[in-house]
Amino acid sequence: MDIRVYGDYREMSRAAAQIVADQLRAKPDSVLGLATGSTPEGMYAELVRMYREGQVDFSQAHSFNLDEYVGLSPDDPRSYNVYMWKNLFRHVNFDPKRVHIPSGVGDDLAGQCLRYERMIEEAGGIDLQVLGIGRNGHIGFNEPGSPFDSRTRVVDLAEQTVSVNMEKTEAISLPTQAVSMGIGTILESRRIMLLANGVEKAEIVAKALRGPVTWMVPASALQVHGDVVVLLDKPAASRLETRM
Ligand code: F6R
Repeated sequence: MDIRVYGDYREMSRAAAQIVADQLRAKPDSVLGLATGSTPEGMYAELVRMYREGQVDFSQAHSFNLDEYVGLSPDDPRSYNVYMWKNLFRHVNFDPKRVHIPSGVGDDLAGQCLRYERMIEEAGGIDLQVLGIGRNGHIGFNEPGSPFDSRTRVVDLAEQTVSVNMEKTEAISLPTQAVSMGIGTILESRRIMLLANGVEKAEIVAKALRGPVTWMVPASALQVHGDVVVLLDKPAASRLETRM
């Protein structure tokens, strides 16, 4: 595992954006797996800046987001659909036809999940998957106990996940279920980039990267993948050093 530690969040975000830009330069029609949440906001802002300066081109790229809340319509301000358009898509030259975000509404969510998996496959699989990590070790919305061979499906969110996300987004309420790519789906990506910042992630980062590989720490699954780059700011890496 390639672990890189940066002085601060801004530096980490710049390095993350550079990895995405390099991926697109090497393969303009790359399939990107994208995450939401507070962690990648700086990376998206940097990608927007790079796009404006002509340093990155999304015109042929494909994207598949990790997750979406069940029951939120795509135009709900709390939805990850709105997050992605606000933070990235509307500022850059992504072709909307190549943008994919799981839908949390519809009569047949199970069928939609299967179709989402098929679309990833038809696009050729994910070249670069961007991940954040939850304080309980979740990746996507794969909470502790999620099987490592899980696929895109409807999941129950941990109480802590809902309360942390409500606090962060200042939402008065949030759904308690989501549609999430599975850990198996994530592990099939050719390359994975995990981002974490802030001291509140230090303990779980150490557990995920250095602790036992266990379903109870979903991000520990990344230890079995052959091409993972981990970008941390100093506070998030602070528990790692003592265990190395
Ligand atoms: C978001 C996602 C989640 C977040 C995680 C960390 O699409 O899948 O796993 O990456 O909850 O969230 P933040 O970045 O807000 O700390």
